[in-house]
Amino acid sequence: MKAQQEVLELSKELRKHNHSYYVLSKPTISDYDFDMKLSRLNKLEQENPSLLVPDSPTQRIGGDITEKFEKVAHSSPMLSLSNSYNKEDIQEWAERAVKLTGNEELEYTLELKYDGVAISLRYEEGKLIKAVTRGDGNTGEDVTTNVRTIKSIPLKLHGDYPDKFEIRGEIFLPHASFEKLNKTREEEGEPLYANPRNTASGTLKSQNSKIPASRGLDCFLYYLVLDKNPYKGHFKSLEKAGEWGFKVPQQKLKYVAKSATLDGVMEFIRYWDNEKKKLPFEIDGIVIKVNSYQLQDEMGLTAKSPRWAIAYKFKAENLSTQLVEITYQVGRTGAITPVANLEPLLLAGTTVKRASLHNQDQIEKLGIHEKDFVFVEKGGEIIPKVTNVDLDKRLANAKPVRFIPTCPECHTALVRKEGEAHHYCPNADFCPPQITGRIEHFISRKAMNIDGLGAETILQLFEAGLIRIPADLYDLTREQILPLERLAEKSVENILIGLEDSKAQPFEKVLFGLGIRYVGETVAKKLAKHFKNVQSIKSASLESLVKVDEIGERIAESVYEYLNIEANLSQIRRMEEAGLCFEAIEVILDSEVLNGKKIVVSGVFTKLSRNELKTLIEANGGKVVGSISAKTDLLIAGENMGPAKKIKADTLGIKIIDETAFLRLID
Ligand code: IVH
Repeated sequence: MKAQQEVLELSKELRKHNHSYYVLSKPTISDYDFDMKLSRLNKLEQENPSLLVPDSPTQRIGGDITEKFEKVAHSSPMLSLSNSYNKEDIQEWAERAVKLTGNEELEYTLELKYDGVAISLRYEEGKLIKAVTRGDGNTGEDVTTNVRTIKSIPLKLHGDYPDKFEIRGEIFLPHASFEKLNKTREEEGEPLYANPRNTASGTLKSQNSKIPASRGLDCFLYYLVLDKNPYKGHFKSLEKAGEWGFKVPQQKLKYVAKSATLDGVMEFIRYWDNEKKKLPFEIDGIVIKVNSYQLQDEMGLTAKSPRWAIAYKFKAENLSTQLVEITYQVGRTGAITPVANLEPLLLAGTTVKRASLHNQDQIEKLGIHEKDFVFVEKGGEIIPKVTNVDLDKRLANAKPVRFIPTCPECHTALVRKEGEAHHYCPNADFCPPQITGRIEHFISRKAMNIDGLGAETILQLFEAGLIRIPADLYDLTREQILPLERLAEKSVENILIGLEDSKAQPFEKVLFGLGIRYVGETVAKKLAKHFKNVQSIKSASLESLVKVDEIGERIAESVYEYLNIEANLSQIRRMEEAGLCFEAIEVILDSEVLNGKKIVVSGVFTKLSRNELKTLIEANGGKVVGSISAKTDLLIAGENMGPAKKIKADTLGIKIIDETAFLRLID
């Protein structure tokens, strides 16, 4: 096949799969096959640069750098919505709507109020031309490069779309993406992000589009801007936009509905106030819009918001309590997190004693004074947040809270680098919580997984002067540990066995355990796989580090710097001498027929034991996974496999084979 034709066909096919997966949430291909096709397309485009177009599915992976976001004037202002908080407000608004239109029987479109960042997308001839943030409503910033990486935003439309138009909506970070991101941050010892909304907003303004590409942003569209809209009303416009490939709210999921009565409106509000917790993304209310475009025109706009729409904001359970004091936690990387310690408060079923204040800017924004009464809210995040201060209850002569200038533990002056929100204690080598934090990270389950050791024992060993760096752990003797308080014969035994066992941990776990900044579990795996041993990483140049898949400049610099510090090298030498693994163990494959395939094994087998099956799968390059998902490539079914599994595999289009077929496959 000619390259040009293959590129066209592959692009079309991948676009369709993307749409099914990200817009319709109905996968039509396994991840593995998708990746294979995408890399084939990528290869063809690299070989024939003239065939590469900006709306190619390969262009979603990011990598382009934006030095400065250009200002762009909106074709019509991006308005906000007036807010309401109770039934009476809505009733009043509806009465005004009836008066302004002279129409007694208004029809409303009901939607969720997504808590994200507003975006305006411009399409010409079915292609995404520009994506602009709201800005001040009249002028926003051009974030097209980053928006192109959001998989649910079509780069190319299908169907009977208008030649030129704008469509507006909300970009947001689903809960799952936010949690995944914070989990990685935690592993890397970085301060956590405060909430999905701010993170979405920050991500959209990243200078390197690889960042938005990797974070799983999503987007719902809720407003079609067309000079002469051929459709009668807003609801129909949304349906049409869905036909062209946009992610619009689904009726089936009750994300959007129509109602001709106020009772229907209130019912929709009640329903989502109860159910909002179950949504995979954050909403902060409901938006009610008069459906007919003609009536919308008759009602018109105010300077700030359309008269034809109103937002109903949910009341988050929000109570006030007194601030006892602000304490500051020091992480293993030296990041300082202020924490509000509160008079205990019962909120949404749990007792709240502490709330994160995130950083200095947050404290200043809230304007907290000592012993203030603060309102605390439990939103979508797990950690409760302080939303505002009850000024009426402020004590006379209360002083504003000042962020501490020095480390609460070692009293070194804190630093805050330009562009960073957090303060850091720079005394990495001597600040106690940083020292113990690094050792705790080293022994943690995902690193060296040392049973028998915990945070308390680490502190004890540190305070007894027995350990300062992870390598010291391997010099510990029975005689040294036994005299320590609360450590009986049996516990000492467990510690020593745990340490001995940890020498079998693979290279990537050791690498992760070293706690190199920005080297989380995934990065450690990539480095281990690529370089095979620590020696090669040590001699790698910055350029060769950056060339590794998923390793950006920031990570490369951090690794490079770490491995050029003598103390770190000496620790690695000591660990090598102690017998830790600094080399990736090459798995000798029988074949690569199952290369990268994710395989589920289910049922009872006659020719092979489960373990034998597992070994064979791995020896041929496959990976055994526990349960069936869209990511599964193959299901090996034995006898008595549950019917639910078969149905699930069939629905997801996963190939099912029996034992005999499997043996034939790998033969
Ligand atoms: S309609 C001209 N619909 O809420 C009307 N806005 O406070 C345009 N928002 O700036 C807005 N969900 O960012 C509309 N279903 C929805 C929405 C929504 C969230 C945001 C939007 C707007 C803000 C207004």
